[in-house]
Amino acid sequence: MATREIITLPAPLLREKSAPVERVDDELRALLDDMLETMYAAPGIGLAGVQIAVPRQVLVMDVSRDEEARAPHFLINPKVVWTSDEMSTYEEGCLSIPEYYAEVERPARCRVSYIDREGKAQELEADGVLATCVQHEIDHLNGLLFIDYLSKLKRDRVIKKFAKAERQRATHAL
Ligand code: NI
Repeated sequence: MATREIITLPAPLLREKSAPVERVDDELRALLDDMLETMYAAPGIGLAGVQIAVPRQVLVMDVSRDEEARAPHFLINPKVVWTSDEMSTYEEGCLSIPEYYAEVERPARCRVSYIDREGKAQELEADGVLATCVQHEIDHLNGLLFIDYLSKLKRDRVIKKFAKAERQRATHAL
């Protein structure tokens, strides 16, 4: 296992749609293991493939917040198949938008179909922070970010801030 570099705003790849996985094999499992290690090291509770510049429909999550009792989820080709009418609001952040947090309202519960790391079809029933996390990560596979749920004013301010930081980095990287 190895940690990979996490790409951040304004990386254009974050706006691309990820391609479905066609075959679950050892190469894919190695990718999932690297993603999990990268997520734990960050630290974060969810990571999509595109965030390490691999635009394939894969994501990892662990909302246990307990190093002694880790509970990783590995989801391949995940799809939201049901959402509750009831909504809930969480303060979200994203490893690709470091140090920015904002409240986002999403369905409180959802059901997600996916392929597991053995290649079997599965379903996940999620509520609480796991429901928010899985919806946030699936958004990444569609090129969406949590800032897209904010007002245009707030979103533009964040995008501008990261674009400016990127320009400064470029200027100083001689
Ligand atoms: Ni994210």
